[in-house]
Amino acid sequence: MRTPLLAANWKMNMARQDAHKLVEDLLAKVNGVSGRDIAICPPFHLLADIEKLIEGRDSIYLGAQDLYWKDSGAYTGEVSAPMLCDVGCKMVIIGHSERRAMFAETDQTCFNKIAAAISHKLVPILCVGESLEEREAGKTEEKVVAQLRADLQGQKIESGDQLVIAYEPIWAIGTGKTDSPENANKTMIILRQTLAEIFGAEIAQQVRLLYGGSVKPENIAGFMNCEEIDGALVGGASLKADSFAKIVNY
Ligand code: PGA
Repeated sequence: MRTPLLAANWKMNMARQDAHKLVEDLLAKVNGVSGRDIAICPPFHLLADIEKLIEGRDSIYLGAQDLYWKDSGAYTGEVSAPMLCDVGCKMVIIGHSERRAMFAETDQTCFNKIAAAISHKLVPILCVGESLEEREAGKTEEKVVAQLRADLQGQKIESGDQLVIAYEPIWAIGTGKTDSPENANKTMIILRQTLAEIFGAEIAQQVRLLYGGSVKPENIAGFMNCEEIDGALVGGASLKADSFAKIVNY
């Protein structure tokens, strides 16, 4: 059984005071919820604060939004996997489409970052997804399979809980548009088949596949009712305790 994972991607939002209030409100609202995991992925400057706030809470994990693959050294502006572990991170988002589009992230850099995360026991949340152009040209499958192969082939994992995949159609991110649950589920089937080809069927069955792109309290249940969808990566709707708590409590 794959435990549902609801992951909050705060992106470049939140000052300390607002973040504290958001997490305190969220913790009150999800108190007693069982059978699902929550990840909070704030910007780097908030990691240590959030770690303190969620300390001792089962099933609530701290995640970062990126890392650099070297452990330490003269890499001004970068943050490494050991540093993320040091501050209590358990997960890290890798290859978000915003990083691929705006910060020159390539499949090779994603590969390096995933390898670094795995070797430090951080669970990468690898993001894949097609652009509107690719979608309209019927190339969704081709795109996401190519991304999975390039980013994952050759990675060393022993079990499926060492990896999470987020399928995020780029045209659905922050736009209010979503893929239909049926379509998203079909894409998840392809992703899982590809994972089986890369890592074997047993591991592929254990990897959690998240949907992302304009997930809201109103549409989360539709996605979670799909057999192959194991959770969501949530941007905008994770910035309010009320809406993210509703998503967690779908
Ligand atoms: P969104 O972002 O929920 O605001 O569409 C999702 C994401 O980019 O991870």
